Formats: sequence, structure tokens, C-alpha cells
Amino acid sequence: MIIKPKIRGFVCVTSHPDGCAAHVGQWIDHVTSQGPIAKGPKKVLVIGASTGYGLASRIAAAFGSGAATVGVFYERPSDEGRPATPGWYNSIAFTRKARAAGLYASNINGDAFSDEIKRQTLERIKSDVGPVDLVVYSLASPRRTHPRTGVVHKSVLKPVGAPYTNKTVDTGKGVVSVVSIEPASEQEVSDTVAVMGGEDWEAWMSALGDAGLLAPGAQSMAYSYIGPEVTWAIYKNGTIGLAKNDLERAARAIDAKLKASGGRAFISVNKALVTQASSAIPIVPLYISLLYKVMKKAGTHEGCIEQMQRLFATQLYASSGPVFDEGGRVRMDDWEMRPEIQAAVAKAWPGVTTENLAEVSDIAGYRDEFLKLFGFGLPGVAYDAEVEPHMPML
Ligand code: NAI
Repeated sequence: MIIKPKIRGFVCVTSHPDGCAAHVGQWIDHVTSQGPIAKGPKKVLVIGASTGYGLASRIAAAFGSGAATVGVFYERPSDEGRPATPGWYNSIAFTRKARAAGLYASNINGDAFSDEIKRQTLERIKSDVGPVDLVVYSLASPRRTHPRTGVVHKSVLKPVGAPYTNKTVDTGKGVVSVVSIEPASEQEVSDTVAVMGGEDWEAWMSALGDAGLLAPGAQSMAYSYIGPEVTWAIYKNGTIGLAKNDLERAARAIDAKLKASGGRAFISVNKALVTQASSAIPIVPLYISLLYKVMKKAGTHEGCIEQMQRLFATQLYASSGPVFDEGGRVRMDDWEMRPEIQAAVAKAWPGVTTENLAEVSDIAGYRDEFLKLFGFGLPGVAYDAEVEPHMPML
């Protein structure tokens, strides 16, 4: 079939297998261009490995430091001529390239929150890899079926305590408007914490530890976002921020356990970037469009892969070890949060309108990157040619 982008709201419902492979290829090329990561990881489990920051972490580990990787993700294969989700194609492309480079790579597709997927993953690590020295927890999910209670928790992206009104952009239509979001109920807060908080990360680490599958000195990290004040009501102080506070609680609990054998767990606060997860958050895409404009001009713009390569090379595996902030977090949002960058974004924010969006913000760059997430707009891909959407997972 010939596959073209079909955008519905903030998702693209199609994806291009060759385009996704080209995108993964670009990320691999970036990591190899930066040279080997000295003393990097050797055996890595990435939970949420198929797109965004998790995929970038997997690529940094494999192609930066020759690590064997096991990737867990939840992607849909193609069916009846409908293309698979991009993470499906990304994972196949990654695995092919890793194996061609002589690296072990294997994949588990299913619900990471479930006991069954944890069991399968432990089994795989035990039989193929042996104890892991790094566990990356990079899930972004709209829901979680709790393995003990069977309750389905749904996460929401809402302010807490009071309604919030600010500008937002419809990135597809390029329309800037004012949006008011009602505050979350207590139930919605606790559901979001159940999905995006730290309980499941702790469950993974306990299961790995109990099975003797954490190498001495093993490290683990999960990702968070803080951002500037203009996003706080919807992010840092909103439902997702409260879930991230719980992720930080989990980091401290896991850290205390890993310390016993010389390891550690921590949160890396990453830069705001276009991913499938972030495009669903109100207000944030407008902030990202303005931020991209300012950071590109300053020459400090990074994507997921630049962020993760820098995290691995200059923090996690730096000879002096990671630098932590007062809250024990690694700050990969350091360049985003520089005062001059934030001042420029804050200055542009009040004046941005539908009419001047293209000029004031990098909405074009946002859209290009959004399409790339689904494998569209990559150089060298024959988008007008027939392509086979059905590909078995490796
Ligand atoms: P993403 O949507 O690109 O990736 C999510 C991953 O989780 C995919 O691999 C997906 O298959 C997997 N997944 C979702 N539900 C699953 C389930 N039930 N079982 C197994 N796998 C499942 O998201 P993104 O943006 O890379 O987010 C990853 C982490 O980074 C999140 O914790 C997010 O809050 C954080 N982060 C994201 C930022 C951004 O701007 N995108 C900024 C800072 C942190």
C-alpha cells in the first residue's frame, strides 16, 4: 500500500515503516557520530523502549556503549492493511541494526504494568542476557490496569485545585486560542498517580531484584519534566506533576535499595520535546513551538537522541558521575531552563497569535518533528511507492 499521513487531532493514525526505519537510522548515526561512551552500560532493560525518550535511551546504550538491550513496549501490529504503530516499526528497525552490528537485542510487546509481561521479561533476561546493569523506566501511558485489583486507572492532564486558562495551539490547524481547563477531581488525581507515578517502577525493580537479575552496582532511572511557570498549572502543579512527585518518591525508595550493592536510582528531568505523549498535553505544544524557535536560534536545540546521548555520556557514565540538583535529580533541561532562553520565550508568549504563529514560533519545526515520529518527511524515503505494512516483530 501507499502510506500517507492521516492526522486526527493530536495523533497521526498512520505510520510509514521505511520512514520509521530512516528515523531510527538518523538517531543511531547521531550516537555513533559522538563516539563511544566510556564505561557505559553493558546489559540494559528499557521499559517503554519503542518511541521518544525510551527509544533514544536504548539507542544510546546499544550504539554508544555496545550494550545488549531488552526492550519492553506496547505497540499495535498492522492489521488488515492498516499500518502498525510507529513504535512497532521503530523496534524492528532498531533490532535489525543492532543485530547487524553484532549486538544482542530482543523485544517484548505487551502491557508492562501486568505481571505476565514482567514474568516474560525476567524469563528473557535470565535465559539470554543475565543480570542487567541499567534499567530505564520510560513509560508514558494513558491508562493502567492494576495487576492486584484489576481496576483500570485512566490518567488525565488537568490542573489541580482551580481551573486554568491560558493560550494553546491547535498544531494541525495553526490556530492559537484560549483554553480553560477544569481542575481534576480527587479520583482523577489518584488515577493519574496510579498510572504515571512510581508504583510500577518499584514493582519492576523488586521483581528484578528478587529474581537476582540486577547486577552489582546496577542503576535505574526514570524521566520527568519541570519546565517554566507558564506550564506549571498544567504540568508541574497539575495531575501529571503530582504523579511525577510520586515517581520521585519511588526513585528515593529504589535508590535506598540499590545503594546496598553500590548502585543508584534517580530521576532525569528532560527537555520538553515533541513526542506522542507531549503532543496530548494542552498548552505545552505552544510552549514547545516557541522554545524550539529560541533554542534553534541560540544553537542549543536538542531532540530526544541528543538529550539521551548527552545524559549517558556526560552524566550517567561520566567519570565524575552524575551531578544532582538539590532534589537529587539530574537536569537535562539545563539548556532549556537557561534564563536567557526562558526570558525570550516569556517575552514572545503574550504576543503570539494565529496570524503571527509562523513567524514568532517554530510551528513548522514542531510539525516536521511530529510527522517524523510517524515516519513521514524523512529524506530518501519513497513515499509514493508501495510499501508492505505487515512486518513481524523480531
Ligand atoms: P512516548 O509516548 O514517546 O513513549 C512511551 C513509551 O511507553 C512507548 O515505548 C510505549 O510503547 C510505551 N508504553 C506505553 N504504555 C505501555 C504499557 N502499558 N506497556 C508497555 N509499554 C508501554 O513518550 P515520551 O515522551 O518519550 O515519555 C517517556 C517519559 O519521558 C515519560 O515519563 C514522560 O513523562 C517523560 N518526559 C517526556 C518529555 C517530553 O517532552 N516528551 C519531557 C520530559 C520527560
